[in-house]
Amino acid sequence: MASHILLVIASFLAIISALATASDPSPLQDFCVADPSSSVRINGLPCMDPKLVNANRFLFRGLHVPTNTSNPLGFGANSVRIPGLNTLGIALARGDFAPRGVAPLHTHPRATEIATVLEGSLLVGFVTSNPENRFISKVVQKGDVFVFPKGLIHFLYNVGDSPASVIVSFSSQDPGFIVVADLFGTNPSIPNDILAKAFQVDESIIRQLRP
Ligand SMILES: *[C@@H]1O[C@H](CO)[C@@H](O)[C@H](O)[C@H]1NC(C)=O
Repeated sequence: MASHILLVIASFLAIISALATASDPSPLQDFCVADPSSSVRINGLPCMDPKLVNANRFLFRGLHVPTNTSNPLGFGANSVRIPGLNTLGIALARGDFAPRGVAPLHTHPRATEIATVLEGSLLVGFVTSNPENRFISKVVQKGDVFVFPKGLIHFLYNVGDSPASVIVSFSSQDPGFIVVADLFGTNPSIPNDILAKAFQVDESIIRQLRP
């Protein structure tokens, strides 16, 4: 009986701790401006002395400038780096797309993303969990805002004939970025037969997909 109760308490604590770690932890102070020179290793970045903090630690300039899209994807991104955002649970970036440029299939394991279209027309979409694997997509235009739920694989693709750009926000200071196609270019390599089984194709196709 006592062991039953312990089991119930243990499961309850496990649920509570899962809830507590479902997003970035809440701040315990007004701010914790990241101190890049600190050698302390914690979950996040250590704070600099608040007395040494000035407005520049909360400022980023230049997000109006398009990023370079002259690459095979036709896609460029600029992540806003603001030390004053440390521990505050959000992040921001700009993405630019040449015509037919794509932010390829990827996921942010730690954040929901919300994208605002500044210009252009983009086909955007994400895929729900197994076993449904439902593909949810939309063509979005200037002024439209689209959500990519936390952890789901998604993409943005410029379907217009002119450049497109977006501002994206994240519900974590460090969303993480996992690109699906990088499975074929890991270091060291995932063995061919494992990828062939996973994608149910011949190993020769896996060799073609390697960078
Ligand atoms: C954009 O990137 C390409 C490829 O790296 C480079 O050749 C080109 O000079 C860059 N353009 C600008 C405006 O920086």
